[in-house]
Amino acid sequence: MDTDEDENDPSPSSVGLFRSALRWWNDIAASHGHRVAACRLASEVWEFARDSTPQRRRLRYGDAEFDWDHRVNTTSGSVGWRHRLWGVFHSPYQPTEAALFHEMLSALRAQTSCNFRDFVFLDLGSGKGRALLMASDYPFRRIVGVELLPELHRVAVENLTNYKSENQKCFALQSICADALGFDFPAEPIVLYLFNPLPKAGLRRVIANLEQSLRSHPRKAYVIYHNPLLEHVLSEHTAWKKIGGTHQYVMYEA
Ligand SMILES: C[S@@+](CC[C@H](N)C(=O)[O-])C[C@H]1O[C@@H](n2cnc3c(N)ncnc32)[C@H](O)[C@@H]1O
Repeated sequence: MDTDEDENDPSPSSVGLFRSALRWWNDIAASHGHRVAACRLASEVWEFARDSTPQRRRLRYGDAEFDWDHRVNTTSGSVGWRHRLWGVFHSPYQPTEAALFHEMLSALRAQTSCNFRDFVFLDLGSGKGRALLMASDYPFRRIVGVELLPELHRVAVENLTNYKSENQKCFALQSICADALGFDFPAEPIVLYLFNPLPKAGLRRVIANLEQSLRSHPRKAYVIYHNPLLEHVLSEHTAWKKIGGTHQYVMYEA
């Protein structure tokens, strides 16, 4: 497993740490005013500083069991400060917990009796690729992840090569380094996995892109939304029907 893979790497600058911070500020200031933006910034900086202590860092390594079992590096513990700071203004990298992932996929199969062999599994905001690896234990037609940060994408590519699992059923895995906002959905039946990668405006855009794609090429699509802080973006659309979930995730069908 890599250690602080990005301590000497300036890659967040390629997606603009300063620009990200500025956009974050402008979004909040536009809807809530400068005072609220300043308070939120202070609170985020405080949380970031707390999260940088050795004790908190050790806690982040608590998610490394999956890596140990499968010879990969998907822990958030080894993400260095620049990428974590970038995460403050976008969505911080955090891998999906394995037990919960399998619970979500079992629930989807039970609810829909969909045949995974017909579907492409898409993870928008795929980070180091843990959800892609776990999805490969199911017989998906193929599996695609889209990650904005080049450094996380690079680790994901290594993970796709190194992954060892006796349960692996899908071997067509791909990580793409790109902005999910501009992603062109493939014209195949889709299971879309979202673990809170985007703010409200971004999520709206991605769902609108998917709806447009479904109008152009009618087909089945399901969304599994983990930690559904912005569930209303789906529930407010009649095009989407809720088919299950718990307080940890929701599932929608197009
Ligand atoms: C909470 S993590 C989820 C990681 C992964 N899906 C998993 O479940 O293990 C969210 C990820 O979204 C990425 N992200 C944020 N904004 C993005 C965007 N516009 N396009 C693609 N990825 C993005 C972040 O860099 C981060 O890796």
